[in-house]
Amino acid sequence: RLTQEAMEETEQPAGGLHFIGKKDELIEAKRSFRTVDGRDILIIHHQGVFYAMDCYCYHAGGTLENGDIEEINGKLCIICPKHKYKISLCEGEGLYRGRNPQEEPPVYRWYSKGVKQRTHTVTETNGEIFVKMSSQPGWIDSDYYQGEKGKIERAKA
Ligand code: FES
Repeated sequence: RLTQEAMEETEQPAGGLHFIGKKDELIEAKRSFRTVDGRDILIIHHQGVFYAMDCYCYHAGGTLENGDIEEINGKLCIICPKHKYKISLCEGEGLYRGRNPQEEPPVYRWYSKGVKQRTHTVTETNGEIFVKMSSQPGWIDSDYYQGEKGKIERAKA
């Protein structure tokens, strides 16, 4: 039998989760901008799945809000509107097309630059959406634009 206190605990999301909004509203919006813990993030709903990532592109701080989403090399990516960099929605990987100079004739393939954009975890509880901010240690390129610089870029966009 659950005590009143334990019942309340089970209804409360675990620590570190930030309430973002009602699921229905976020689906309707498709893209939602939020500031969580002073960090500007983008919550994306695409083909039935929620994603969250830093709002400003790791390349030069372009806002990703209106970027198209395409599947590239089997990964769903957002295309930064500013210079068309491709960033995977799940991992924040930077993808680029290149070729091995040893290969003749040249064959262009997609390559990964590794994780460049910080992504955050989205969870749902009773029709409400929460985000757990990335705790991945170390520097990720998109961190650079989460200071004043990022906010300036957003104001210009
Ligand atoms: Fe250059 Fe995003 S700012 S591609």
